[in-house]
Amino acid sequence: MDECDGKCDTCAESGSGTDPKKEMEMQAKKATEKMDKIKYKIMVASGKGGVGKSTVAVNLARALCNKGYKVGVLDADITGPNIPKLLGVEDDKLLMGPEGITPIDTRGVKLISMAFVLSNPDSAVIWRGPMKMVAIRQFMADVTWGDLDFLIIDLPPGTSDEPLSVIQLIPDLSGAIIVTTPQEVALLDSRKAVNMVKTMNVPVLGIIENMSGFRCPHCGEVLDIFKTGGGEKASKDLEIPFLGAIPLDLDVTPLGDKGMTFIDQKGDTAAKKSFEEIVDRLIEKLIG
Ligand SMILES: Nc1ncnc2c1ncn2[C@@H]1O[C@H](COP(=O)(O)OP(=O)(O)OP(=O)(O)O)[C@@H](O)[C@H]1O
Ligand SMILES: [Mg+2]
Repeated sequence: MDECDGKCDTCAESGSGTDPKKEMEMQAKKATEKMDKIKYKIMVASGKGGVGKSTVAVNLARALCNKGYKVGVLDADITGPNIPKLLGVEDDKLLMGPEGITPIDTRGVKLISMAFVLSNPDSAVIWRGPMKMVAIRQFMADVTWGDLDFLIIDLPPGTSDEPLSVIQLIPDLSGAIIVTTPQEVALLDSRKAVNMVKTMNVPVLGIIENMSGFRCPHCGEVLDIFKTGGGEKASKDLEIPFLGAIPLDLDVTPLGDKGMTFIDQKGDTAAKKSFEEIVDRLIEKLIG
């Protein structure tokens, strides 16, 4: 049988074959079609690393899912994909069906991440910007997301390749949530993230101040380990909404390390209570 050289009628019609430009256009079209079926697309960003973006992203996804919404998470942190670990599915494998890649179902939340593509969790992805954009586009175009209410997009810190790719690939983003911690170095970087999002004409849904105060479990005194109130002040200065503050909570890290979310914990912890209010504020803002 003759081998196809990529110029046959089938390839021409499907846009596949050897023409990379055409292939890219087809992928972009597919990505747009898939994203059109999702009502609210929210990116979780920050200027600084380690401030709790991924923690916010997974707890937000779980909170929305618990309220009955159809939710997906796109882990757009290509070089440091943490979401599968935080949702306890890091050993799961992706399945390829006739319609595309089936996202991992984690207790009702659909998830795609670079972590599922790596053969070894310690492998380093050493890619320049354009390759990261190709991967993010593929996560949009080739994954069978279906009709979702929310897609939460977790980003690495900063104002570079991944946030820019997401903004370019999803022109109708519902908006960005900026996560910060209260200390000046974090706020300085957060203001940059807000300004990038504004410059790209993406709505800023609001700032969340994470690791905001800590109630000592022994004496009950509230200690401002990283200070408090900086996020709210920054939101006033930058004229963007303040979604709320999440305190430092001793349970958050051990739960995350075990692949569990604090929002699903029994009882009312300080972090859970504050986060529920943040989620309600966000829903009110988006859906009313
Ligand atoms: N409110 C909190 N209380 C206690 N620990 C927290 C809180 N929020 C996040 N953490 C912990 O801080 C660490 C960093 O959180 P996370 O990975 O969510 O940050 P990130 O901003 O996504 O980091 P990166 O920039 O590397 O992607 C994790 O170990 C997480 O469990
Ligand atoms: Mg992260």
